[in-house]
Amino acid sequence: MEGIEDIYNRKFKKLRLSLLDHCNFNCSYCTMGSDNVASKPQQKVDFFVKRVAKLHQYLQLDSIRLTGGEPLLYHELDVLIHELNKLDIPEITLTTNGFLLAKQASKLKNAGLGSINISLDAIDELTFQKISKRKKVQEVLNGIETAIKVGLNVKLNAVIMKGINEQEILPLLQYAFKLNIPIRFLELMAMGHLHEQAASQIFTKDEILSSIAQHYQFTRAIRKASATANYWQTQEGYFFGIIANESTPFCHDCNRLRMDAQGNLFGCLSSNKSVYMADEDPEELLKQKLQYAMKQKQSLKFTGSSLSMLEIGG
Ligand code: GTP
Ligand code: 5AD
Ligand code: SF4
Repeated sequence: MEGIEDIYNRKFKKLRLSLLDHCNFNCSYCTMGSDNVASKPQQKVDFFVKRVAKLHQYLQLDSIRLTGGEPLLYHELDVLIHELNKLDIPEITLTTNGFLLAKQASKLKNAGLGSINISLDAIDELTFQKISKRKKVQEVLNGIETAIKVGLNVKLNAVIMKGINEQEILPLLQYAFKLNIPIRFLELMAMGHLHEQAASQIFTKDEILSSIAQHYQFTRAIRKASATANYWQTQEGYFFGIIANESTPFCHDCNRLRMDAQGNLFGCLSSNKSVYMADEDPEELLKQKLQYAMKQKQSLKFTGSSLSMLEIGG
């Protein structure tokens, strides 16, 4: 079996698997505050493992990233990671808000997790609360520091919004430098309730670079193919990245396929269209479904979606 490829030579090599569609935060860019509750039951470990095994057999995946909603709320996360590890996918990674991480980091590392991306939009407690509607940022910081201690590779993600947390860029950068881990600043994406109205809140890549340039000298680092982020290196040797979906999208070499928590495949973050994958799908049908998903990457421009990251899978 060979995988699929579109006219821009894009393949599906990175699977983002959403484990559940709800979260213990209510980030202003993701939810509208009241819509972030469990709406569907969690699927069993076997539900995900069977589907991932088939996708891997057909696509020879390079990596799988577990997302949500908040994946640390998934009831058998360590068992799932352990089972996924048996499929010989080169990399198993996870993206989390970090709130429940201090308790789980060691267990997840032992189950076979290699690296973890943690969202941290502010160090200042009031700004953190304003964005996430949750106390306390210290829980997340404990999660980050425990993850590093148990040997997970950690990166930070910070969504920067105009008038909300642009003043946090420097403290966040200095925190990451102190821990010697990479941090990526994200431009706000026009997803979900922000689909038509993100523009006024976007703090652009150039604005982020100007803020950092007031304190650090840096040069451009090489971008790996299909990576979401461009990276820069400071004179002191620290790395920071920017994920600029609005001003510098990476659609031209995007290699991502998403599966939401109910088994629906999405080929693109900018498309609302998905196709359900059943575990008994014969090979020919699965191939057609993947081709349908690949067609959703029709454009080379990120246009956002009326679905939020919670719905599509983070
Ligand atoms: P690494 O493999 O560690 O670089 O992780 P990642 O950047 O792929 O994953 P992460 O979950 O940390 O996602 C960070 C951000 O990347 C998201 O918030 C999005 O802004 C962006 N991103 C992730 N997947 C996609 C995608 O399929 N399309 C687009 N346009 N952006 C994406
Ligand atoms: N814009 C930018 N980033 C977003 N995330 C979720 N919704 C948005 C949005 N509208 C980020 C989270 C997390 C990553 C998976 O997606 O902060 O870091
Ligand atoms: Fe939860 Fe992540 Fe959405 Fe925030 S962005 S509400 S942490 S899923």
